Amino acid sequence: MTDTAINLERVGVVGCGLMGSGIAEVCARAGLDVMIREIDEVAAEAGRARLVKSLDRGLSGGKMTEGERDAAVGNLHFTTDLADLADRQLVVEAVVEDETMKIDIFRQLDRLVTAEDAILASNTSSIPIMKLGTATGRPEQVIGIHFFNPVPVLKLVELVTSLMTSDDTAARSDAFATEVLHKHVIRSKDRAGFIVNALLIPYLLSAIRMMESGFASADDIDTGMVEGCSHPMGPLRLTDLIGLDTTLAVAESLYAEFKEPLYAPPPLLSRMVEAGLLGRKAGRGFYEYQR
Ligand SMILES: NC(=O)c1ccc[n+]([C@@H]2O[C@H](COP(=O)([O-])OP(=O)(O)OC[C@H]3O[C@@H](n4cnc5c(N)ncnc54)[C@H](O)[C@@H]3O)[C@@H](O)[C@H]2O)c1
Repeated sequence: MTDTAINLERVGVVGCGLMGSGIAEVCARAGLDVMIREIDEVAAEAGRARLVKSLDRGLSGGKMTEGERDAAVGNLHFTTDLADLADRQLVVEAVVEDETMKIDIFRQLDRLVTAEDAILASNTSSIPIMKLGTATGRPEQVIGIHFFNPVPVLKLVELVTSLMTSDDTAARSDAFATEVLHKHVIRSKDRAGFIVNALLIPYLLSAIRMMESGFASADDIDTGMVEGCSHPMGPLRLTDLIGLDTTLAVAESLYAEFKEPLYAPPPLLSRMVEAGLLGRKAGRGFYEYQR
């Protein structure tokens, strides 16, 4: 918790996939004006559809009234031009887990965003924040605000400060997450994978290796962890939910940072990503899904 008040009205979200749409949703539901940047009209439309579907699910599940759903929809704006985020007080980047792409976006945001005290945040799962901070002329305002999937449901936010992030940026980001979005913040130092993925990814990779070696079936591995350890979901189904591409990218960041075999991606994961078997969002991963 923090005592810092945050005066926030205008938020930008870059990327409207699984995570960006969730982040935009919770911001819009908190009454913030949200400008979302997607790569093209098709992706923006897919993002809008995902958001509206999620809000409608909230309405039918009794989580919000019709008026609240309409107000949230009214707070959401879409663009394909990053320059439309110029007047934002906080921007959360949530594009694919690709270091080069994220660095390029931070470089552009630094040039475009006009407010001198704007916070430039990344939802990266694993890329060290320092790498994004040094792409800007204001690394003290760059921070990791790492949400969890699905964002409207899971309370956790990991706040990741680099060696250059200022205390003021950290305090205002903490206030945004706790006071505006009512999330539960944990703090991590700037190491690839932070807290949760540094622990989670080796576990997911172990499950994939176990299946790949013929040791056990996907169903039995997942059932083992659900019924034996009370996990809400087994590791292969969870990998499908996260996205196999994201899991692979996070494993590669961890492996690049620590050079530990436990972070090395198993060949089956790489082959499935090459085949486009990305999990739930693609309709098929370790399991098949209706889209
Ligand atoms: N999937 C998870 O469970 C999860 C959880 C926490 C954090 N993350 C992190 O969140 C980020 C996004 O992951 P995701 O699962 O939402 O991926 P995703 O593939 O579902 O969505 C990424 C979106 O970014 C868009 N995009 C790509 N380049 C862009 C650009 N230049 N400008 C604007 N939009 C662009 C794509 O069109 C796509 O819609 C990654 O950094 C990932 O590591 C993912």
